[in-house]
Amino acid sequence: MRTTASYLRVLGFVTLTGILIHFLSETEDSVFLSSYWPWIFIGIVCLLSIALEVCIEALQAVLFKTLHADARQRYLDAEALAKEQLFSKFKRIYKKLLGSRPIEEESEIILDHNYDGIRELDNNLPPWWVYGFYATMIFAAVYLIRFEIMDGPDQEEEYLQELAQAKQDIEAYKKTAKDLIDINTVTQLTEASDLKAGSAIFQANCIACHKSDGGGGIGPNLTDNYWILGGGIKNVFHTISEGGRDGKGMISWKQSLKPGEIQQVASYVLSLQGTTPAEPKDAQGEIWEDPDDNQSNKPGFQPVDSTAIGSK
Ligand code: HEC
Repeated sequence: MRTTASYLRVLGFVTLTGILIHFLSETEDSVFLSSYWPWIFIGIVCLLSIALEVCIEALQAVLFKTLHADARQRYLDAEALAKEQLFSKFKRIYKKLLGSRPIEEESEIILDHNYDGIRELDNNLPPWWVYGFYATMIFAAVYLIRFEIMDGPDQEEEYLQELAQAKQDIEAYKKTAKDLIDINTVTQLTEASDLKAGSAIFQANCIACHKSDGGGGIGPNLTDNYWILGGGIKNVFHTISEGGRDGKGMISWKQSLKPGEIQQVASYVLSLQGTTPAEPKDAQGEIWEDPDDNQSNKPGFQPVDSTAIGSK
């Protein structure tokens, strides 16, 4: 680990691993933020490549020691030559890009202007500058054709496009991120898998009071269309999440269930509508008429508020 090249190789390995991990992982955000194993992996790669460098160097040193004196000299000479050639290549490219003439050749390009002893050289424009200039001309032509002649989108249009796209993305994100659901966005689930999950949550938490078929006991019958706290997905979601009236026994479940789970169990409860439980409890509350078609889409719609009901 004494040469710059060996440091660069280690750095190269580490960077390469980082890039590979980034592209192979399928998460949307960087895996480097969400978990720590990429860092551990990179650390291991780093240690291994340092170890490899050290081994190679040790091996080289041993081999060098076994050489004859003149062979050693030849080896050193060859190394020095290789080093020089490496840098001479860079120097050549650098000189070419500058396009300047060496001092010995200046006599060929000197102009006969002479301002009090200050004289002028007729140097070429430096090639890096010339090519840069050509690049701007090509860019200008492409830009002109794309945006002025073919009427490409201007900044405002691009902004609006991006805004529309962002809105779509947010919608798509909300669909996948189940736990962003709240009473305003909750919808009744009908997928068999969701209802099954809801059923499992119900059997685990609710049957002590509502019976495993929803027929009711301490809690009301959930299979009839009479509701104390309002039917429909929004009210049921609200009841489960915030709890029933004070002192009645229906606690708030939002500490122990995630919003997505509440949505599932609420959908499951609603799927019990119209089933016939073994020992149905008498109806409590009022018949619920679904206002979804005519009211909930209108601006003033307020879902039932449990505190208001509690004070009745
Ligand atoms: C400790 C008993 C108990 C448990 C456990 C319980 N509930 Fe209740 N539940 C009640 C009572 C009592 C009410 C009536 C509340 C009221 O009158 O305000 C009720 C009301 C409800 C209502 C509203 C019914 C209506 O007519 O408006 C729903 C929906 C409901 N529970 C679902 C659930 C779900 C889902 C679970 C499981 C996550 C659950 N409950 C767990 C006791 C319970």
